[in-house]
Amino acid sequence: MPPKKRLLSGMRPTGKLHLGNYVGALENWIKLQDEFESYHFVADWHTLTTDPEHTGIIPENTREMVTDWLAAGLDAQKSPLFVQSQIKQHAELHLIFSMLITTARLERNPTLKEQVRDLDLETRMTYGHLGYPVLQAADILMYKGEVVPVGEDQLPHIEMAREIARRFNHIYSPRRPVFPEPEGRLSQFPRLPGLDGNRMSKSLGNTILLSDPPDEIGRKMRTAVTDPQKIRRGDPGRPDICLVFTYHKRFTPQGVAEIRSGCESGALGCVECKRRCADSIIAHLAPARERRLRLEQRPQEVTEVLRDGNARAREVAASTMNEVREAMGFG
Ligand code: TRP
Repeated sequence: MPPKKRLLSGMRPTGKLHLGNYVGALENWIKLQDEFESYHFVADWHTLTTDPEHTGIIPENTREMVTDWLAAGLDAQKSPLFVQSQIKQHAELHLIFSMLITTARLERNPTLKEQVRDLDLETRMTYGHLGYPVLQAADILMYKGEVVPVGEDQLPHIEMAREIARRFNHIYSPRRPVFPEPEGRLSQFPRLPGLDGNRMSKSLGNTILLSDPPDEIGRKMRTAVTDPQKIRRGDPGRPDICLVFTYHKRFTPQGVAEIRSGCESGALGCVECKRRCADSIIAHLAPARERRLRLEQRPQEVTEVLRDGNARAREVAASTMNEVREAMGFG
């Protein structure tokens, strides 16, 4: 059997994860963890790009997020789970890579342009924020990541990582390339919208959390927006514009055809439809919920998982940096 390809992906520590994080990313990581040699990390330095003033909450947010990773089914034995800021080599590789890309290239980044617009950063863009795709390239290439599961917004960053890898290899290791050119891998499901139809985000208060108890999921689901033309049972609805139907497609796959016809004919009312949807989500999350409750009883376990993951990541990082320094003549 050929050796497994390396997979690498990270998330910013946002605390407890929501269904959007799960469907868009985490679920995909879990699915791929047998096929690839996976590394997953908490991108804590990356939070400094948009929020350098609130570092105090990072440890708690890290623990909560990693607890959800484990609860949802990431296997820390197979795949090291680690914390970016604990592997100092990321900073060294970032510095080297920062010399291999132009500022004009970084300014052309569509994802950055969107952030500038949304967060009104025109005159407040920091040097580190502009360069964060370079740090991301270091995160990926440190582990010689070949496959990087990400959302669509991250594809421009993967492209920059490819360019940096190519440039490094071209200048310093033309005969035996140190770095692979990583590929982005989109998840099969598009991003799951929040309960109000906007992007699911904690700051918008429209999330379902993986750790929400069942009655909370039922309560939140009752607030979900549906087809505004379907006011009471009997009214025909349009599932294709209904948020609850989007959730059904993911969580009630075997019932989708029947729910569609019930909604369109009017026989299925929104109250009942939402109740079924909540039940599907609750059933899907039941194993994760149980594992989370167990993990909460043993906080030491998350600490140990990260200690072990950091040690394993550090070994790979040390070896990559030896190659890098040698190729560059810093031996
Ligand atoms: N930039 C990613 C985000 O904001 C997080 C991230 C940092 C990442 N480094 C990475 C993702 C490396 C994949 C690979 O979501």
